[in-house]
Amino acid sequence: MKILAIETSCDETSAAVVEDGRKILSNIISSQRSTHSLYGGVVPEIASREHLKLLEPVVKKALSEAATVLKNIDAIAVTQGPGLVGPLLVGISYAKAMAYSRELPLVGEHHIKSHIYANFLEEEGKKEMPQFPLIALVVSGGHTDIIYMEDHGKYELIGRTIDDAAGEAFDKIARALGLGYPGGPEIDGLAQKSKEGVDFPRAHLGNSYDFSFSGLKSAVLNYLNRLRMKNQPVCKAHIARGFQESVVDVLAYNTLKAAEDREVKNVLLAGGVSANSALREEFDKRALKMGINLHFPSPVLCTDNAAMVGAAAYNRYINQISKESAWEKFTELDLNAVPNLAL
Ligand code: KG4
Ligand code: ZN
Repeated sequence: MKILAIETSCDETSAAVVEDGRKILSNIISSQRSTHSLYGGVVPEIASREHLKLLEPVVKKALSEAATVLKNIDAIAVTQGPGLVGPLLVGISYAKAMAYSRELPLVGEHHIKSHIYANFLEEEGKKEMPQFPLIALVVSGGHTDIIYMEDHGKYELIGRTIDDAAGEAFDKIARALGLGYPGGPEIDGLAQKSKEGVDFPRAHLGNSYDFSFSGLKSAVLNYLNRLRMKNQPVCKAHIARGFQESVVDVLAYNTLKAAEDREVKNVLLAGGVSANSALREEFDKRALKMGINLHFPSPVLCTDNAAMVGAAAYNRYINQISKESAWEKFTELDLNAVPNLAL
């Protein structure tokens, strides 16, 4: 079964063809990064207009790279939310028009679930498939969630950020340090240039698996201001490394604690921040010690892309939809964008 998937929830215009939820036949990602970097962050109205311009050529390229045509596609999947309402609407309207005109089933997918399902895509060099039950850490520009999954399609949110998302903190600190947007990859690269980092605080919120990054953000900004007021030199790499170590430490601690408490042996990392090299290294080290099977996608599948949407849609079909009714029943032509879609 071939799914044509579309993702336009933020600032990446992406289309992919995925076979049987596993095999990526194509995954075209057109990033609007350079446009938004002029403003230091994503401007929703500009993102919507860019998606309008880019979506058609991106879909065409996805089909041609997959060496297929619309006639051979079995279903259309599109991100329904969470995300920016304008950008979501562009993808949804396009997907609906395509599904209607070609009489194809249409599936609205959840963005966070799609990030998780990036771990089920086939990739070279990948170890075994994730097994249930599992704990997933989804760390992106908008979310920092710990999710317990007993099986396909069963999601229990057990921890989340009470203020900033981890990616948002990376982006804000990068801006304070005068680095480019998005800040995560910039901080990741810079931190590797320092052997040690500033000792910034870690927020542990009692017995919960929740996160808080606003205190850390203030600590970094205060540290920077103190240096600047005293006219002392600012070592950006030293600060970047310290900040990153603090974020990674709490992400790893809470996630692996959840795995231990729930007696789970499989842990998945997902979302843009899971591309971070220090985060992958630290999780690897701790998971190995605990005998946990750790899974994370290649960096290009951590950040927003349409292949993960195809993987999530396919798994929903075979594991849930097919048991309840025909796939055709899921042609949701009244599908609407839901910026804060619940898990
Ligand atoms: O999942 P994603 O592409 O979009 C959202 O759904 O938000 O995540 C984007 C976020 C940005 O905040 C970006 O700075 C962060 O992921 N990011 C990273 C790295 N690559 C991307 N953060 C830390 N280290 C990285 N290497
Ligand atoms: Zn995302």
